[in-house]
Amino acid sequence: MAQAAMNPALATGAAVELHDIQGLVRFAYKHHTEAVFLLLRVRDAGAARAWLAEVAVTRAPTEDATPSTALHVGLTSEGLRAVGVADDVIDAFSPEFVDGMAGDTSRSRRLGDQGPSDPSRWQWGGTNRVPHVAVLLYALPGLLNELQQTVEAQFQAGFEITHRLWTSDMGGLEPFGFVDGISQPELDWQRQRLARDATQTAYLSLSCLGEFLLGYPNEYGLYTTRPLLDPARDPLGILPRAEDAPESCDLGRNGTYLVMRQLSQDVYTFWQALDRYAGGAASTRERLASAMVGRRLNGAPLVKAEAPSPASGLGAPQAALNDFNYLSDPLGTCCPLGAHIRRSNPRNADLPPGGAGIVSLLMRTLGFNAGAREQDFVASTRFHRLLRRGREYGVAVTPAQVLAGQPVPGERGLQFICLGANIQRQFEFVQSAWIMNAKFDGMRDEADPLLGNRLPTAAGMSTDCFSLPQFNGPHERLTGLPQFVTMLGGAYFFLPGIRALRFLSGAYA
Ligand code: HEM
Repeated sequence: MAQAAMNPALATGAAVELHDIQGLVRFAYKHHTEAVFLLLRVRDAGAARAWLAEVAVTRAPTEDATPSTALHVGLTSEGLRAVGVADDVIDAFSPEFVDGMAGDTSRSRRLGDQGPSDPSRWQWGGTNRVPHVAVLLYALPGLLNELQQTVEAQFQAGFEITHRLWTSDMGGLEPFGFVDGISQPELDWQRQRLARDATQTAYLSLSCLGEFLLGYPNEYGLYTTRPLLDPARDPLGILPRAEDAPESCDLGRNGTYLVMRQLSQDVYTFWQALDRYAGGAASTRERLASAMVGRRLNGAPLVKAEAPSPASGLGAPQAALNDFNYLSDPLGTCCPLGAHIRRSNPRNADLPPGGAGIVSLLMRTLGFNAGAREQDFVASTRFHRLLRRGREYGVAVTPAQVLAGQPVPGERGLQFICLGANIQRQFEFVQSAWIMNAKFDGMRDEADPLLGNRLPTAAGMSTDCFSLPQFNGPHERLTGLPQFVTMLGGAYFFLPGIRALRFLSGAYA
């Protein structure tokens, strides 16, 4: 995608307009254990715009006194159209946002949305069922009901609710039983991070703001393409000017994209299959499950975490679980190469391996540095980070209940949400090039052990295996993995800055 060049003078230090940013970019609302995501379609464009113009969206500034409830709003490209935004403005957003998640079969194939996960089978988000707006409500315990009733009453003239995506509090665990929400990129709110820093070759959690907010420089030192408007289209002067093009109004500034995927998890099949592979041995069963994730059930990583380094950008409790990379485990004997967390964030380096020096370059070119060659199979991770904001849903069932054959009715899974300024380079890349890719990191016939759809590749290669490399001797191999995760719905939303939301609700453009 074309990107504008950065004015280096603006790259660091300039203040961030927290008041204009939706709080979800900054906070995961961990203490807000109650949440529901409302999917809406426009019933009356005028009334819909009136609500969007007034709605009290939670902003990003508060650090200590987080509000007791929070509300966030995102719109799909169909939603922008439905509230009357001009076509040329919509088309200036990224193509994947304009097309939508289920927009074409090639995208669905790349994302692994095939077979039982095919968009034609989705409960929402497939053709003719794309939501216009998502309203995300979060509340401290006991407060969601009232918030939801109030908000639903406020927007009912403008919108009909097509789906209420409920979430549940599983005490920090995802439905398979692993601690979730550990590893996240840190945003450079102070704008101190130097993009294109050739000396920064080690893995770093700190990311340029432009990776997660439009209108700021990203890790390439560039401004991601977004709608820049002639000021004549903003007669009330609502929008900020673009940092990189001050003659234009920046509709993207302080906004981001939100990817939502409802992922149903078959917890019974997961633990029953592992039990079979383990021949009923509890310790083997747990070892295999941990190998698939790359962490133990309690969140401890399979490769040793380093002592926290001041430069890592990680807070102390997080560091114990998260300050590690895979350089000490190049063959995947501690954490399998195909483990979920190793695929979704290979942590190999912040720049392509080997450093920028001429000697190092020569070594790699001539093939003397086998370690670096190994890492070259995966691209540098700094350009592919995701800010995850998902929530579990359904009634929890423990591995013990599964193995005792105790049925717990209902369906359960993850309302997966991630934020990023570039859907293609962030979510779509991670999902297709790393998670679903049968050839990831030099492998041949396996996709993500949790998320793979187990369908053969176009070339007829099977993808239902999982390898656990061993120190001595051949890999331990699990074959014929069943599908554990199925897509039930999904969509791409634009999560606008507050001023952009007001502008869009006037549909001035
Ligand atoms: C039902 C589906 C999923 C389950 C059960 C699941 C489970 C987990 C677990 C247990 C962790 C480790 C805890 C943590 O670091 O927070 C994790 C990490 C992660 N997951 Fe997933 N996940 C799912 C879907 C996805 C999807 C669809 C993506 C992206 C397309 C994704 C991307 C990541 C990333 C980026 C990490 C952090 C890796 C790291 O930095 O070490 N996950 N996931």
